[in-house]
Amino acid sequence: MNPVSNDQRLGNSLQDQCVLLVGGSGGIGQAIAEALLAYPVRELIIASPKPAPLAGGLARASSETVDVADPASVRALAARIEAHDVGIVINCAGINGSCRVFSPDAQRLARREMDVNYFGLLNLAQVFGPVLRERGGGTFMTFLSFVSHVNLPLMATYSASKAAAHSLLQALRAELTPYGVVMCGVYPTAVDTEMTRDFDGPKESPSDLARVVIESLVAGAEDVYPGAAAAAHAGFVADPKATERAMAQSVRST
Ligand SMILES: NC(=O)c1ccc[n+]([C@@H]2O[C@H](COP(=O)([O-])OP(=O)(O)OC[C@H]3O[C@@H](n4cnc5c(N)ncnc54)[C@H](OP(=O)(O)O)[C@@H]3O)[C@@H](O)[C@H]2O)c1
Repeated sequence: MNPVSNDQRLGNSLQDQCVLLVGGSGGIGQAIAEALLAYPVRELIIASPKPAPLAGGLARASSETVDVADPASVRALAARIEAHDVGIVINCAGINGSCRVFSPDAQRLARREMDVNYFGLLNLAQVFGPVLRERGGGTFMTFLSFVSHVNLPLMATYSASKAAAHSLLQALRAELTPYGVVMCGVYPTAVDTEMTRDFDGPKESPSDLARVVIESLVAGAEDVYPGAAAAAHAGFVADPKATERAMAQSVRST
């Protein structure tokens, strides 16, 4: 008997799945869509504020619109795709105002970041958590950030919204794990997308990240620290205060 290759193993686990990819028009979302369509997933539904361009795998991919900040929009999306038996939800919707605490626009941007990054997760989870629970299990993966754990003051209000979403994910996990729903958080450092256009430091490639995402889905992981995030998180766990001081340098040096 031939040994099963890694790609076959991943394909076997994903086949017959319908995946809902929210924020699928963004840099990370597009990379995940492309990576997923390389496997025999039954269907991929890409949901974003405007209809997403559909690249490869057209027959298995479709596009929906949603505003995650609006509970009615999320409920309407769920009603439209009810018959598709979604078993995996991946939430890549997010915004980053790159806003410091004393920026003139901080109040407005902080509220908008909370609306999308925190309430967006709450809205999606309140609708799709029960959908996954009622079907007997599934996976709900959401993109958080390394800055969920420690604030980067150059993007202070974004970090706070990601910390709130991290806390919410812990409560969602307590509620849904007993029903076979894996609640997974992904905590990357910088990834090379539109969101980090003005950031000069090292960035992960979205396609490398997408590979880790698929491995993590199949493994049933709850906490994912892809690429450089693994060492960054280990450093944070070993000495949280030293990490906080290192992050503070981001504003001292500007
Ligand atoms: N890039 C990084 O360095 C990095 C690092 C850590 C974590 N993350 C997180 O990873 C996720 C994906 O980021 P990305 O780099 O792919 O960013 P991106 O390229 O800016 O994509 C963000 C996606 O979110 C969508 N979106 C924004 N507001 C929305 C709303 N109200 N409802 C539904 N969708 C909405 C965007 O749609 P439109 O384009 O149509 O607005 C887009 O599809 C985000 O949660 C981000 O915070 C990113």
